[in-house]
Amino acid sequence: RPAVTLHRLREQVARGEPLAMLTCYDATYAALLDAAGVDLLLVGDSLGNVIQGQSGTQSVTLEQMAYHTACVARGRRSAFLLADLPFGCYEASPQQAFESAAVLMRAGAQMVKLEGGGEMVATVRFLVDRGIPVCAHLGLTPQRVHALGGFRVQGRDDAAAAALRADATAMADAGAAMLVLELVPTALATEITQAHPAMATIGIGAGPHTAGQVLVLHDALGLTSDVSGHGARRPRFVRDFTREAADGQPCATLSPGQAVAIYVADVRARRFPDAQRHGF
Ligand code: KIV
Ligand code: NA
Repeated sequence: RPAVTLHRLREQVARGEPLAMLTCYDATYAALLDAAGVDLLLVGDSLGNVIQGQSGTQSVTLEQMAYHTACVARGRRSAFLLADLPFGCYEASPQQAFESAAVLMRAGAQMVKLEGGGEMVATVRFLVDRGIPVCAHLGLTPQRVHALGGFRVQGRDDAAAAALRADATAMADAGAAMLVLELVPTALATEITQAHPAMATIGIGAGPHTAGQVLVLHDALGLTSDVSGHGARRPRFVRDFTREAADGQPCATLSPGQAVAIYVADVRARRFPDAQRHGF
């Protein structure tokens, strides 16, 4: 297939075709996910959990992110490659963020993702103005989980929903090309998606109506219950694509490649996530 570019992703979103994103940390899976039709590979700092066995993402370094980004870049053929700016390497100033983003871009990233709302707006603008596409990340932001008081759905009450709405608008105005919405009520995620057609929303635990979906790869392959960073239980928004059909019933065990192909097909057809079983 032709290279997935930001331009093509925008056309896809404009056609109403959902984007399928998965996290990816190495060359082997990059090739497998790419061949299965995944649009975007995210080198997530969730690698702290699923690769390193840490209890969170805060210990992940820029050097580690660059290493995994380079591994994924070697394995991918046409999928678009995003990488997370890890905790502590972008919050202090736009300049710090640019220098860190440049390290990830040199390693092969085509877009960087950062967590945070209004306080990160100047940084997003600074990066975008200097040619670095940015994906924002709102709702449950794992780098700030200690301040948020745990892995809980965000934006539930009116004040929190209004703050999230305002942050999304600020990110769109600052030029963010994409916005990950994590653990956000379906209605709010839908509203934000409709309000900002030029900023592709990518949901995780945000219902079926965002412009795209993302899952941690190891969650989608049913490999995690207690190391994926969402607490001891399997989170409600996860589906094990190797063993579970779209209706939640068990299915014949699938290979990773088959499971990822089903993920892509079900995201495209909006069969995943299921509004009732996976949403809030
Ligand atoms: O690091 C990660 O895996 C992420 C996704 C869950 C959005 O940020
Ligand atoms: Na992340």
